[in-house]
Amino acid sequence: APVKVTKICCIGAGYVGGPTCAVIALKCPNITVTIVDLNQARVDAWNSPDFKLPIYEPGLEDVVRQARGRNLFFSTDVDKGIEEADLIFVSVNTPTKKSGVGAGFAADLNYVELATRRIAQVATSSKIVVEKSTVPCRTAESMRTILEANSRPGCRFDILSNPEFLAEGTAITDLFAPDRVLIGSLQTEEGISACQSLSDVYANWVPKERILTVGLWSSELSKLAANAMLAQRISSINALSAICEATGANIDEVAHAIGYDTRIGPKFLKASVGFGGSCFQKDILNLVYLSESLHLPEVAAYWRQVVEMNEHQKRRFSKRVVDTMFNTITGKRIAVLGFAFKADTGDTRESAAITLIRDFQSEKAYVNVYDPQVVEDQIWADLTEAQPLVPVDQIKKQVRICSSAMEACRDAEAVVIATEWKEFLDIDWEEVYKTMNKPAFVFDGRLLVDAAKLREIGFKVVTIGRPA
Ligand code: NAD
Ligand code: UGA
Repeated sequence: APVKVTKICCIGAGYVGGPTCAVIALKCPNITVTIVDLNQARVDAWNSPDFKLPIYEPGLEDVVRQARGRNLFFSTDVDKGIEEADLIFVSVNTPTKKSGVGAGFAADLNYVELATRRIAQVATSSKIVVEKSTVPCRTAESMRTILEANSRPGCRFDILSNPEFLAEGTAITDLFAPDRVLIGSLQTEEGISACQSLSDVYANWVPKERILTVGLWSSELSKLAANAMLAQRISSINALSAICEATGANIDEVAHAIGYDTRIGPKFLKASVGFGGSCFQKDILNLVYLSESLHLPEVAAYWRQVVEMNEHQKRRFSKRVVDTMFNTITGKRIAVLGFAFKADTGDTRESAAITLIRDFQSEKAYVNVYDPQVVEDQIWADLTEAQPLVPVDQIKKQVRICSSAMEACRDAEAVVIATEWKEFLDIDWEEVYKTMNKPAFVFDGRLLVDAAKLREIGFKVVTIGRPA
């Protein structure tokens, strides 16, 4: 009979491990959930008495308030977490490799491997080990080999793949009501039984018909495929936005018209300054690497183009800013509104704003940045990483971090909207206009503001996917 799970350990208290397992704890009061991480500061933040959690996610604090100390715990004692659990989620980071074989494309599996080895070393009883991290196809095979080669006698390890589909900014609603939960297992008696144990956990709140069970390799590949296809939609709409700007078509109207076709559907068709986030680019590059390793160069080239189009979109936007402002922004002040890769998150990984600011700096402009959630240190860290050859004091001379949109726009020649934060809809543009140098430009990289209204005030407005 399938093991009834009563103790879960999650290795990795990040954007995925934290919210996912906090929600499991909330929905399954009879299961004890311990989330472990090597990063002391992160664990301390999860445990902070005033709920200053390490990540900003709407609704998360409420979940943690209800479950923490009841059946949800955060700890740096990885070994104890492993030892006590029946089921272990591996939810560590899998960034793109920066050096060595596959540098720039392949996923760095070092963290997954270290966590797996730790499990083998510490476990004194059988465990179900669940890949939650996004990994290349067939990683479960390597995990199994490592576990079996290092386990103690009498310890069985069953490996499942259970990729996570939550999006940042909506993590809690996504987890409460997922489109689907995907579980992959070996199609052996033991594999199917382990799969049942994990299904039973989700069945506490997810309708049965939304829990999909498939083979291990399909599950692993489905995660890369889902992200690749979502990103491809954005690159497609962004490619069309370039045609709109050159022809007089309006990308919002085009998206609306094509999205009405039920086969295409209306979601994920918002043109933008380019997609960001920790996963789209990483996972597509991973798929490109997989395709090349399998000697499928045409397949690799097809997916690589999705990332190239995204790079092109960011470059195209920076260039449009410079071109519009009479071919020079040297010495001009530009207000960049938004630094996170999307609204409702403090996450900045691969954010388009980083690329834009780097481009503006290399044109010798001054930049004022404002974001409602991103902390100052993060902005400095991202900007210095993006310009390794530029000394930090030089960057700090050119960039000022502001505490409101109004402050960022004061004395600027142009406003660039990089993130679609709702609060930017409430900006008092009449006031902003008064404080700016003229002509005052607004570059809307997110199709956020009412261009006609801004033009009435006197702004020169340039919008993605619309002619000037
Ligand atoms: P993250 O960097 O926020 O968190 C990973 C955590 O794992 C870090 O806190 C790190 O200290 C910890 N860690 C690393 N090695 C460890 C070890 N050996 N023992 C204990 N702790 C260890 O990453 P994330 O954004 O949560 O992503 C995790 C995985 O989930 C990635 O594979 C990612 O592709 C995937 N994913 C992310 C998202 C997302 O929205 N961010 C969504 C779906 C899937
Ligand atoms: C994405 C997927 O949506 C999740 O299903 C997946 O689990 C996750 O990646 C992951 O594997 O990490 P996320 O990156 O958090 O989630 O956020 P998205 O809402 O997908 O946005 C990604 C980027 O695309 C953002 O920069 C966003 O602004 C941009 N975007 C999104 C557009 O430019 N246009 C759109 O229509 C939608």
